[in-house]
Amino acid sequence: MAEIALDSLVSGKPVAVDVDGVAVCVARIGDEVFAVEDTCTHSEASLSEGEITGTKIECWLHGAEFDLRTGEALTPPATAALKTFKVEVNGNQVVVTN
Ligand code: FES
Repeated sequence: MAEIALDSLVSGKPVAVDVDGVAVCVARIGDEVFAVEDTCTHSEASLSEGEITGTKIECWLHGAEFDLRTGEALTPPATAALKTFKVEVNGNQVVVTN
């Protein structure tokens, strides 16, 4: 479990947090917050260093795109989906669980 202040998250700027020993990419998009595993399924790149467009995140290393809502791999070279994590927003508190 990880707790983050909602007002510390900037829309469109992902961050990496530790959830029970797993690196998780947390992304706020407007009033919604999504969480997917931080390590790209193609190789060892950190997705929280990638770029968000709409609800997609692009891996900075080889350009694979993933849907932040579902973890689905949208474009090659990644083919496997990212694991998603449960996100609860209560006021200013964001809770991410495995
Ligand atoms: S490591 Fe992410 S696309 Fe290759």
